[in-house]
Amino acid sequence: MSQSAKLVPWHPASWQSRPAGQQPKYPDAAALERAVAALSRLPPLVVSWEIEALRAKLAQAQRGEAFLLQGGDCAESFEDCESDKIAKRLKILLQMSLVLLQGLKKPVIRVGRFAGQYAKPRSTDMETRDGVTLPCYRGDNVNRPGFTPLEREPDPELLLRGYERAALTLNFVRALIDGGFADLHHPEYWDLGFLRDAPLREAYQKIVDSIAESLEFFESMSGQRVHAATRGDFYTSHEALHLMSEQAQTRYIERQKRWYNLSTHMPWIGMRTATLGGAHVEYCRGIANPIGLKVGVGMSVEWLQELVQVLNPQNQAGRLTLIHRFGAKDIEQRLPEVIEAVRAAGAQVLWVCDPMHGNTETTSGGVKTRRFENILAEVEASFRIHAACGSTLGGVHFELTGEDVTECIGGARGLTEADLARAYKTQVDPRLNAEQSLELAMRIAERAGAPRRVPLLS
Ligand code: PEP
Ligand code: CO
Repeated sequence: MSQSAKLVPWHPASWQSRPAGQQPKYPDAAALERAVAALSRLPPLVVSWEIEALRAKLAQAQRGEAFLLQGGDCAESFEDCESDKIAKRLKILLQMSLVLLQGLKKPVIRVGRFAGQYAKPRSTDMETRDGVTLPCYRGDNVNRPGFTPLEREPDPELLLRGYERAALTLNFVRALIDGGFADLHHPEYWDLGFLRDAPLREAYQKIVDSIAESLEFFESMSGQRVHAATRGDFYTSHEALHLMSEQAQTRYIERQKRWYNLSTHMPWIGMRTATLGGAHVEYCRGIANPIGLKVGVGMSVEWLQELVQVLNPQNQAGRLTLIHRFGAKDIEQRLPEVIEAVRAAGAQVLWVCDPMHGNTETTSGGVKTRRFENILAEVEASFRIHAACGSTLGGVHFELTGEDVTECIGGARGLTEADLARAYKTQVDPRLNAEQSLELAMRIAERAGAPRRVPLLS
């Protein structure tokens, strides 16, 4: 019998009767219960009409009328919850969206991997160093990266500290946006201090100038200031991993007559927890938020078809985003059959490329990294394969930071393996730095813009 035929009535805790992978083992069950009870009384971080607005925009992207830019840290850390880091991350996402807007000529939907991306899946439960074995670091919502028994012990109070930091982050982001930080009339707010590569700086300046020119033209023609299109919204997303905390922030909205996860606009299901019949899929199928689903090499087409059916039985537009992450070396082989399987199932989905998680490698020195050329190659292959298969790539998903880190190899400034040691700060996966991120956006925009350079009249 298929998974969909076995479904029982959903409620926010129905996942508890299913096998739940990647959950921390708390030594004190009563303390966990107290923390979760406290979390469920706190006000929501987002509201249902924002979530519905995002769903409508994702439906547009699905039809090829908008493009999703989803990006941020692999794992946010509590320590990085400070104004400069948050503003820088916002800035790079804004700059990228500006470049994409200009190149793709469609609205860009901006979704951060932030304000709640505090829990991480790990490949093993325990870590051994020099004969000492301790629980793995599972993100700041769960425990601490330091290798001592105290730091590695899962602490339920951290869920409340995570909630608070998510609220602080979101509050700051909202205030910046409301104050005009994202206004296209003022791209000079987003200084380019980090951009050392001169050609890149010049190319970016050209884009900014051309947008300013178009705005001026439109506004002088219409006699109106363009507000709605220039202010731009920001949405949040994180991996729906720690199910006790997701459940605690799940609320019934009387007006909508549905349950929503109000800790984020767009939760996603990670590769490691996309098990049919598993707890994460059970939890996500019942909430009304748009859901992301990671699709990697390990997922068979039959498995994906069942997931699509379970997660979006009504085939609602904007509900399901498939974030494929095959890696540059496997995408040619895997993506066409996945597109075909989804089409055969009659499902409408938004296709997004995550060129990060299939391209992680370890250097001979034992450092986890990703190569810019592989990241770019996977994005380019995605555009090409979707076009050849008659579907549309409607977005990209990146791990990035506004800081000048050296975690990924390559890009305009040609970072090498030797550079990694200089500013390698991530606790989990290697991120693109601000310069590499902007360059990537430019390469995407250039690629998309290329056919438009062909004269329309000859
Ligand atoms: C992630 O997005 O950080 C992640 C762990 O991805 P995936 O589930 O695709 O491996
Ligand atoms: Co990651």
